[in-house]
Amino acid sequence: MDTKDVIVIGAGLAGLTCSVKLAEYGNHVKLFSPSPSERSQSVMAMGGINAALDNKGQEDSPSQHYTDTINGGQNINNHSAVEKLTQDAPTIIEWLSNIGTSFTRDENNNIDQRYFGGQKKKRTVYAGARTGKQVVTAINAMARKYEEEHLIERYIGWRFLSVLLNEDDKCNGVILINELTDEIKAFTSDCVVIATGGTNRIFGKISGSQQNDAGTTARLLRQEIKLANLEMIQYHPTTIKTPVKNMLITEAARGEGGRLYTMRDDKKWYFMEEWYPELGALMPRDVVSCSIYKVCNQHNLGIDAEDYVYLDVSFLPEETVKVKLDEVYEVCTKYLNLDPTKQPIPVYPGIHYFMGGILTDDEHKTSIKNLYAIGECSVQYHGANRLGGNSLLGAIHGGFIAAEEINNQPEPNKNTNQLVNALLEDELLEYDHWKKSQSSDYISSYKIEQELSDIMNKAMGIYRDETTLKEALNQLEKLEEKEIYSHESYYEYILIKSLIQLAKAFIISALERKESRGAHQRIEYPEMDERYQKTTVIQLINNEYRISFNDTDEKMGW
Ligand code: FUM
Repeated sequence: MDTKDVIVIGAGLAGLTCSVKLAEYGNHVKLFSPSPSERSQSVMAMGGINAALDNKGQEDSPSQHYTDTINGGQNINNHSAVEKLTQDAPTIIEWLSNIGTSFTRDENNNIDQRYFGGQKKKRTVYAGARTGKQVVTAINAMARKYEEEHLIERYIGWRFLSVLLNEDDKCNGVILINELTDEIKAFTSDCVVIATGGTNRIFGKISGSQQNDAGTTARLLRQEIKLANLEMIQYHPTTIKTPVKNMLITEAARGEGGRLYTMRDDKKWYFMEEWYPELGALMPRDVVSCSIYKVCNQHNLGIDAEDYVYLDVSFLPEETVKVKLDEVYEVCTKYLNLDPTKQPIPVYPGIHYFMGGILTDDEHKTSIKNLYAIGECSVQYHGANRLGGNSLLGAIHGGFIAAEEINNQPEPNKNTNQLVNALLEDELLEYDHWKKSQSSDYISSYKIEQELSDIMNKAMGIYRDETTLKEALNQLEKLEEKEIYSHESYYEYILIKSLIQLAKAFIISALERKESRGAHQRIEYPEMDERYQKTTVIQLINNEYRISFNDTDEKMGW
């Protein structure tokens, strides 16, 4: 089989895994990212990775993992993708362990597993509360080996502008911009893999990194590539607001036994345990977030009449908090000046993850030939609500699947004629426009970005309603008309413009799904509706948003 030249955009867990696997098969990879893998958002992942290892006698199986994932995603996951994911999970843990990931082990030296939300079995493998860091470190060491062999070349400081298409409408490379020098350059390849993470910057400060700026997804929308399930935004139930950002208190805190309560009639009210006796505080995230919202906003029982409740781990053995939840201990002591072994932690739901993004099928193919998407930027595994512990798993699995698909493609992309010059010319014209706008009386991109995130946070909260969504659409249309400048860089300038377009796609998707399911709760449509047991697909064609509801397991057909 001929080896291929592949471009991977994004060096977090998904992109890194895919690059290593492609190199293992002998392919050549150019790996582009704004910063090194060690600084990717994947490194921040705390809680763990799900796999039905069944090494603690918990009678677990991949089929139970499958059922929990589909139930958590409220049945709009891609079912065949989830089947592969859950079947392959134990092999992925074995691979990670073999390449040197130091998972926490139990007294018998077996890989330990703990409870996570939406799962009745101890299924989540972890490395203290620093799982992402351990996993990325191990895979990065493999990538270095392939760099030595010249099978992986890394390019740091580059951002995505557009995909190149050849005469057969196959993706044949990319146009990128160097953030530091503003150099705009075309790179060709046989295939391209997008692994650029969540659409974080549309919503401002959230639990994830602002480096995952949504720019690639937004630019792909401009190129008529199909996006999906944008309305499915995960609110993590337990975040804390610090002056720096919205920070996560890992679900592992509840997995280890932490309890949620508020005060009612001067007594502790463990509302989750009362409302959901079977799983209590370990119900799926959408349910816990909605419950905290109701406690604070409908029962008006937030602590001190504010928007927060308590997460209590103070009754757990001190060692559990300091060792198994080391990051929780550190965050609380450093940022809240609070000792979680002695005091409860004030928490409230905050945006954490995007189930929506680039539409892909179970082979991670997008709606454009030879273009793949993996990791958080892509849509297939998580449906309307992702289970904690399935994101690192999905990122690695996506990397494996895309690499295998690309490797098995019969031929490298022969037809390399493409519209490079025309596309480059467009980018350069836009660049000139930006240069000229620097001196005029335009509005700063920074201000526009603030407005954008205010609009989006208001409209796309835990509960949505038609009036607020329509108002947001109106406001975005007005924002779009404003002339923007950015002193910071050309990239910032075009980023904000495309983020507004993407934001509109979020709102339209939320308006069109007229039901409540998982992370999408509509006040006027409080029930789940069978007719929407589908994937919301949105495309921007000639400045017009086209929306459809497709079969969840639809194939791309190339
Ligand atoms: O709570 C957490 O540790 C988050 C894990 C996840 O999003 O998978």
